[in-house]
Amino acid sequence: MGPPGVGKGTQADLLNRWLRACHLSTGDVFRAAGSRSECEQSPVMKEALSYMRRGDLVPDATVWEMVRERVGCLRCGGGFILDGFPRTLGQAEALKQLMDREGLALTAVVNYELTVSEIVDRLGGRRTCEECKAVFHVTERPPKVAGRCDQCEGKLFQREDDRPESIRVRLEAYDRSTAPLIEFYRSAGLLIRVAATGPPDEICQITVTDLESRRAEQLA
Ligand code: AP5
Repeated sequence: MGPPGVGKGTQADLLNRWLRACHLSTGDVFRAAGSRSECEQSPVMKEALSYMRRGDLVPDATVWEMVRERVGCLRCGGGFILDGFPRTLGQAEALKQLMDREGLALTAVVNYELTVSEIVDRLGGRRTCEECKAVFHVTERPPKVAGRCDQCEGKLFQREDDRPESIRVRLEAYDRSTAPLIEFYRSAGLLIRVAATGPPDEICQITVTDLESRRAEQLA
C-alpha cells in the first residue's frame, strides 16, 4: 500500500525476484484493458477507464469482478503480492471474506511512506515502456538512451494520469478512501511501515527483512 507514485510497482517487481510470487496489480490490469481496441472493451471497462484517466478510483464492483477472475493468483505456490488493491474499506472486507473462504491469510501489509512533494516529483518524472511496461524516471532511474527502454528498446511514454490535474485527484482519492486502510490493517496486526526514501534496492532490502521477521514470528 501507499499513495500514488510512492514506488509500489517498483518494489513489487523487486520483491518478486526474492519471493517468486504472483504479482497482481489492479492498475496494470486496467491499463492492459485500455490498450485493447475500442470494440474489444466492454461498456463496464470503458467506464472504468474513464475513472482512471481522471485519477478517480474505479467503482468497487468493477474492481472486485476483475480480482475474482484472477483468484488463481491467490493460490500461487510462491504466494502473491497485491499491488494497488485493496484501496477501499469495502475492497479490504471483500478480500478478507474471499481469503477466509479459501483458507488463506495475509502475511503482512506493507505501507510505503513519502512526502507529497517527493510523490509529485516521482509521478511527474515517471516514464513507462510501451512494450514491456518497465518503469523509469527521467532523473532518478533514467534509461541508458533517452526515451528508449533499457530492456527491449521500446518507446517510453508518460501515463495519462500523471498529468498535474489527475495527480491532484489521485492524491485526494487516496486521502479519502485508501488512507483509512492503514488503521484497518494496523488494528489487524498486519501493518509494516517502510519509509520509501533512498535507492529502490535498499527499500526492498528493508521490506524483505521486515517480512522475514514477520514470518518468523508467525511460525514461532
Ligand atoms: P495504479 O497503477 O495502482 O496507480 P497508483 O496507486 O496511483 O500507483 P502508481 O502506479 O502511480 O505508482 P507506484 O506507487 O506503483 O509507483 P512506481 O513504482 O510506478 O492505479 C492507477 C489507477 O487505476 C487508479 O488511479 C484508479 O483509477 C485505478 N485503480 C487501480 N486499482 C484500483 C482499486 N483497487 N480500486 C479502485 N481503482 C483502482 O514509481 C513511481 C516513479 O518513481 C517511477 O518513475 C519510479 O521509477 C520512481 N521511483 C520508484 N521508487 C523510487 C525511489 N526509491 N527513488 C526514486 N525514484 C523512485
